[in-house]
Amino acid sequence: MYRSRLGTNLSDVTLDYVSSIDDDSQIVFYDILGSQAHTLMLFQNNIITKNDAKKILRSLEELKDEKFDTSLGAEDIHELIEGMVIKKAGMASGGKMHTARSRNDQVALDIRMKIRDDIIITCNCLLDTIESLVSVAKNHQKTIMPLYTHLQQAQAGLFSHYLLAHADALTRDFERLSDTFVRINQSPLGAGPVGGTSIPIDRHSTAEMLGFDGLVENSVDATSTRDFVAEYIAMLSIMMTNLSKISEDFVIWSTSEFSFIELSDEFTSPSSVMPQKKNPDILELTRGKTAEIIGDLTAVLATIKGLATGYGRDLQQTKSSIWSASKTSISALIILRSILLTLKVNEKQMRKTTESSNLIALDIAEKLVMRGIPFRVTHKISGILVGLAHSSKKPISKLGPSEVKRSVAGTKVNPAVVSEIISDTTVASSLRDRISFGSSGYSEQKRMISDRTQKINQYRANVSKRENKITSSIDTMMQQVNEIIGKA
Ligand code: ARG
Repeated sequence: MYRSRLGTNLSDVTLDYVSSIDDDSQIVFYDILGSQAHTLMLFQNNIITKNDAKKILRSLEELKDEKFDTSLGAEDIHELIEGMVIKKAGMASGGKMHTARSRNDQVALDIRMKIRDDIIITCNCLLDTIESLVSVAKNHQKTIMPLYTHLQQAQAGLFSHYLLAHADALTRDFERLSDTFVRINQSPLGAGPVGGTSIPIDRHSTAEMLGFDGLVENSVDATSTRDFVAEYIAMLSIMMTNLSKISEDFVIWSTSEFSFIELSDEFTSPSSVMPQKKNPDILELTRGKTAEIIGDLTAVLATIKGLATGYGRDLQQTKSSIWSASKTSISALIILRSILLTLKVNEKQMRKTTESSNLIALDIAEKLVMRGIPFRVTHKISGILVGLAHSSKKPISKLGPSEVKRSVAGTKVNPAVVSEIISDTTVASSLRDRISFGSSGYSEQKRMISDRTQKINQYRANVSKRENKITSSIDTMMQQVNEIIGKA
């Protein structure tokens, strides 16, 4: 449709190479809505007549219910839709739809509309997953487990505390995506190919009709930039690394060596040869797909880093990265939520593992500190106790007076005090005494759970507010469209 200056048509291979029509299936609806807003604005500013607007708007409305024939040789959805509008409305009216805009502002608009919807969906899924972490945590405030550093047992902890840690990480992902939304929800429409237009359009009114919070003001910036795409996929990549980390923990914990958890059958796969196998494939795929999304981010950054200012067709390639990153992230969240809600937790095994290691070593050292002994000295005493326990193959609590005496050799510490502390210290007492803010202590779990529950509710309200603003703006625009086309 656009090739009047050019002598020949594209060959089939070249057309297929150039065309974004397959990727564009994701933005058809946004493209139509954007065109409706643009057409209304052209009419309201006396750039086209009511009759022209009526014909164009009616054609666009019809297209919402039609299946598109993508084999007509259009380079993209913008060309295809415009061609179909001209066919329906006639050149005299339909030929006016593309007044004062370009595919460059149009595609930037469509992508922004798609991403803002994806952010809303992702944010809702994030809140669902966070909520499931908190609800499982509620049931496991007394479930003792070892906490790890370097994948070596470090301190006694609680499963609820572990889950809340991930709830907090996903909450940061939610907050990051919410911030990104602010920069995404700005309208580029009316920026034209790059430098604006001499036709007296009103960019503010189209932005309002489509539920944007503002404009990407500078027309060069509005059409050239995809920094918002990189930002969005970066946020998803970070989120996926958090999901991947949980997945990795669960893969390890569901081994027969750990046996801390058992995944529900629906989230595992059998082996083609070994009948006993119950493989955690779904979680492994979250790890694998995280790599793919990081790849999407890399593809976008590599595309934009060397691109001269102004639209370049390279940008077309960023769309498939967006769609796939969005889809995978949303699925990963939905799946993790179900995995959490169907998880079997082997509390006995977690506790046994915690108690069979000398995880109370730090607690003993801290209790000695409370008797006025420098931590560096108490750390040494406790370290010697652990060493003796290890070499004699018994827990610290079973060490005899002579061993305790050896642990305080060279210090002024009374061994009777050490013995008393040892007999008073258990994993459970350790968790009762752990009172620092945000710690694994029993008392902190309750506080954190109620705090997070409140936060989730508040965040849900914020997302609905955003969602409603977009929906009601578009509803208002559609009322105007329907008035013009005479649809009740
Ligand atoms: N199909 C293009 C894309 O997806 C639309 C913009 C084309 N603009 C142009 N001047 N060639 O990015």
